[in-house]
Amino acid sequence: MLIIASANGAVGMDAAMCALRNGGSAVDAVEAGIRLVEADPAERSVGYNGYPNILGQLELDASIMDGGTLNSGAVAIMRGFPYAISVARQVMDRKLPHVLLAGEGAERFAREIGAEQWSSMLSDEVKGIWRERLIENSALLDMDAMDGDSPLLDAVELATDPERVAGTVNFIAIDGKGDICSGVSTSGWAWKYPGRVGDSPIIGAGNYADNRHGACACTGMGEMAMRACSAYGLVSYLRAGLPIQAAGQKAMEDLRDLGGDYIGGMNLIALDSAGNHVGMTTRAGSTYIYQHADMDAHREKERQFVEIPARWAGEARV
Ligand code: GLY
Repeated sequence: MLIIASANGAVGMDAAMCALRNGGSAVDAVEAGIRLVEADPAERSVGYNGYPNILGQLELDASIMDGGTLNSGAVAIMRGFPYAISVARQVMDRKLPHVLLAGEGAERFAREIGAEQWSSMLSDEVKGIWRERLIENSALLDMDAMDGDSPLLDAVELATDPERVAGTVNFIAIDGKGDICSGVSTSGWAWKYPGRVGDSPIIGAGNYADNRHGACACTGMGEMAMRACSAYGLVSYLRAGLPIQAAGQKAMEDLRDLGGDYIGGMNLIALDSAGNHVGMTTRAGSTYIYQHADMDAHREKERQFVEIPARWAGEARV
């Protein structure tokens, strides 16, 4: 039994491992681990108290995938329900012929299944940061005059920058039966355009698991993972027979071929069906965590660095 996670998953690692040790499935472990990250007020890129969109609304994305069946569930731009991963799991587990619910539909579903709903999803501190950053970054945004039709394009272009305020949590688990599950949860980019959906709830982009080959989950600039189908890409390299390290390297190198004006940071964690694991990053020194069932505590491991020159608004960025 094994769990790997992005470094910000540390608060949920004990709960996830406890689920596995008590005979729970990989799906149980991933959900248990991510829920604690979603509830952590100090984590600003996932769940409760994540950084909001440009209008100050917290919109959550999450997905979960069962590698035994390739069943998956996801929610996107969901407001008011902190445990996005649990709602995503219910999309997967309930008798519903869908994979992804978004916006009002996701919220309606969450209410219908009795998911926990919180009246306030942001602390006063985060509301203050939102206000301050938008004034600092975007003189174009007159927050006191904003209504449903206020133009946001210029303000979003100036304020949004995933290199400053991005995150997301990844968990991948292998349970006692050898089943693999991967899960991802995020509040997305800070100050994003309302309704923006990243890679986290998109199966194949930010998340993919297949017992036969392995699993991969991403953090970083979701638009890149969406365009390159990074999570599925890595698993398809495993399927083609590459070892995990080479599969990770290839999945990252695929991102170098992306054109366009906006290329930022990307990270992924992945494992193969034998439990070999890897973390890859465009940010030297960044880490991920792992724990086998016979370990007392998780360990941190440096990710393998892959250089992908970043550019923003078409300009090279250092
Ligand atoms: N990787 C998370 C996001 O771009 O929303």
